[in-house]
Amino acid sequence: MAVLKLYEYPHPVLKKKAQKVEKVDDAMRKFLDDMLETMYADAGVGLAAPQVGVLQRVVVIDVAHEDEEPHPYYMVNPEIIWKSEEKVCGEEGCLSVPDQRAEVERFTSVKVKYLDYEGKEQELLAEGFLAIAVQHELDHLDGILYIDRISRLKRQMLLKKLEKMRKEKAHQ
Ligand code: NI
Repeated sequence: MAVLKLYEYPHPVLKKKAQKVEKVDDAMRKFLDDMLETMYADAGVGLAAPQVGVLQRVVVIDVAHEDEEPHPYYMVNPEIIWKSEEKVCGEEGCLSVPDQRAEVERFTSVKVKYLDYEGKEQELLAEGFLAIAVQHELDHLDGILYIDRISRLKRQMLLKKLEKMRKEKAHQ
């Protein structure tokens, strides 16, 4: 396994639409392993392929707490096939927008269809934080970041903080 290079805002690859995967073969499984390792290395709860510069419809998610056993989901060609009417506001962050967080509105629960690590079709009813993670990661596959879903004013403030933080880090 290997930790892959992470692309951060405003890299253009993050704005592109990812393509469907033809089949889940050994090369794809190796990529899934690398994605998971990359996500764990940065203590993330989700990672989408465009964040490592690969425009394929692939995400990994693990929302297990630190004191719980890891519970990774590998999702190839994921698709939301049902959304709850109810929505919820929760704080989100993203490895591609480091050290920033903002409140985003999402569906409370979603049903997602995808191919798993073995290439088998799966359906998952995601609720709570997992539902938020699924929506956040699937957005990445369509070139959407969570900061695209907050008000312009909040986005400007957040991006200013991001820039300030980067400058500070550059001077360290
Ligand atoms: Ni993200």
